[in-house]
Amino acid sequence: SSPAVFFGEHQAGIVTPAQDRLHFAAFDVSSSASRENLIELLQDWTDAAARLVRGLDVTEEGAVGGPALKPPDDTGEALGLGASGLTLTFGLGPTLFRDRDGTDRFGLADRKPELLAELPHFSGDQLDAALSGGDLCIQACADDPQVAVHAIRNLSRIAFGRASLRWSQLGFGRTSSTSTAQQTPRNLFGFKDGTANIKAEETGTVDAQVWVGEDDGPDWLVGGSYLVTRKIRMTIEIWDRQSLDEQERVIGRDKGEGAPLSGGGEITEPAFSALGPDGRGIDVDAHVRLAHPTSNDGAKLLRRGYNYVDGNDALGTLDAGLFFIAYQRDPVAQFTAMQRRLAGSDLLNEYITHVSSGVFAIAPGIREGQHIAQALFE
Ligand code: HEM
Repeated sequence: SSPAVFFGEHQAGIVTPAQDRLHFAAFDVSSSASRENLIELLQDWTDAAARLVRGLDVTEEGAVGGPALKPPDDTGEALGLGASGLTLTFGLGPTLFRDRDGTDRFGLADRKPELLAELPHFSGDQLDAALSGGDLCIQACADDPQVAVHAIRNLSRIAFGRASLRWSQLGFGRTSSTSTAQQTPRNLFGFKDGTANIKAEETGTVDAQVWVGEDDGPDWLVGGSYLVTRKIRMTIEIWDRQSLDEQERVIGRDKGEGAPLSGGGEITEPAFSALGPDGRGIDVDAHVRLAHPTSNDGAKLLRRGYNYVDGNDALGTLDAGLFFIAYQRDPVAQFTAMQRRLAGSDLLNEYITHVSSGVFAIAPGIREGQHIAQALFE
């Protein structure tokens, strides 16, 4: 319960070993809010978040310590659950700096990072605009789903009148390891996911690929990062009718161990021109080949996604997939370049559809006595 989980050089929830549960929320700032209202909101969110990540109620009075004749400050459903590894990570969308119609609502247009732009349309995208974008975002990750939901619920409540929920997503089951101490989990296609991810212990790679550096600019974002979210629907019923051999060809790894089809074990580097012990190699359009740094000028991502199931449709098909989350230093050279390649010929495309998209600048870590993204307003 050390306050270091909230205050520090970088925000928590990025290189933090990925927790099991997610509630991700995107907000729109109210059209009547002023620059001062926005700053106050970030200040109020900071105060509440610093308490929530320690397992405390949002205020001192909290759920049951206030006057009996007023609604409690805290909604109460996390009483007794503790911190459960909660991290809260705050981001700023391109529309905060300049509206879709070009309005500079908060006097921030000249502080907008050049790399913070709406993502281009990728082949195959079927994005729902109502489930995409947002002026602000909060990623809440915890080992207990109710703790993550409680955090988003109370932060939304605090935002009342200043910002409102635009869309949100629950995820149950991480699809990435972000530490070498973690076992590789599996996605809903049944494959190990996160094997070749950037791990917190690889500090050189984290510095080179995740954190915005001093020469990158703008100054207020140094120590921050960029977040790309993509809700990717997976047509799991169609996938489940493919042979094991075909499923492994699509990914380029075997399903049991997660080893590359070119041979070796889970953490053996794939050899793209070699044949494995059973005579199979990695297909030219296999997902891991197109996503690998050798196909992307050395670019990598810190993936931190979650499985989701949002019920089912009238035909009895599960509405399920991957809520993809990736952190990076440069969204254009990293996510966008990679997704262009994947959208072109990835064998996975037959089984997936991107339905929502978001891009956010992730403020650097918050210093004690300061609020989220304080340097942006100075
Ligand atoms: C690797 C699944 C979407 C980027 C992998 C692996 C699996 C997988 C099973 C191999 C294990 C690993 O190294 O993690 C999926 C599924 C997706 C999806 C099911 C969609 C539902 C994406 C997207 C991107 C991406 C949209 C980025 C634009 C990567 C990268 C790797 C990877 C960078 C590591 C490649 C390497 O260095 O070997 N993915 N993925 N994936 N994926 Fe995906």
